Amino acid sequence: MLNITVLVSGGGTNLQAIINAINDGTVENARIGLVISSRADAYALKRAADAGIKTCVISRKECADIAGYEKKMLDALGGQDGSGTDLIVLAGFMTVLPEGIIKAYENRIINIHPSLIPSFCGKGYYGLKVHEEVLKRGVKLTGATVHFVDSGCDTGPIILQKAVEVLEDDTPETLQKRVMEQAEWKILPKAIDLIAKGRVKVTDNKTVIGGE
Ligand code: GRF
Repeated sequence: MLNITVLVSGGGTNLQAIINAINDGTVENARIGLVISSRADAYALKRAADAGIKTCVISRKECADIAGYEKKMLDALGGQDGSGTDLIVLAGFMTVLPEGIIKAYENRIINIHPSLIPSFCGKGYYGLKVHEEVLKRGVKLTGATVHFVDSGCDTGPIILQKAVEVLEDDTPETLQKRVMEQAEWKILPKAIDLIAKGRVKVTDNKTVIGGE
């Protein structure tokens, strides 16, 4: 059983997609043992509590320094139900993870990004900004990417991608909604299922998805 900790900062619709997929059996052999939020007011915390999942709030700003933040996070991740975390899922998590966590969980942290990496990613590309830039550039296809997290910004091995059409009358908000519905909420649970089944291998900063 893959023991997951989900890190959130906001609405938690991606968290909800994972909860639903575990409940309806689309994701097998995985459980969410803990949800860590960077903000006490994140609606994602209510979604977790409603699903009976343990939660905690760890805010970078409330720790004296980065070392203190790293220790607090590592303690929470390691102590998850006494059995530890196998996979960290960043689902709309807005804090940059300290190096020590990335090293300790190498190829065991995944993130969902709302574009087709390597387009519209890297420093400054988060939230609505991504969709604003997509519309500014006039690309006809955008989408979402699930990737492993390394010490760079959106540079880790890509696990899954899904394309979404950009429509003539899209606003950043309508595009964001469609990318979530058509791509993010599908490929994030799918990637977790593949990892839980041991089908994702990493070599040379690339993934290979093995057969069942
Ligand atoms: C999503 O668009 C995700 O791609 C980005 O942050 C947003 C989180 O939304 N990283 P939610 O909190 O899962 O609703």
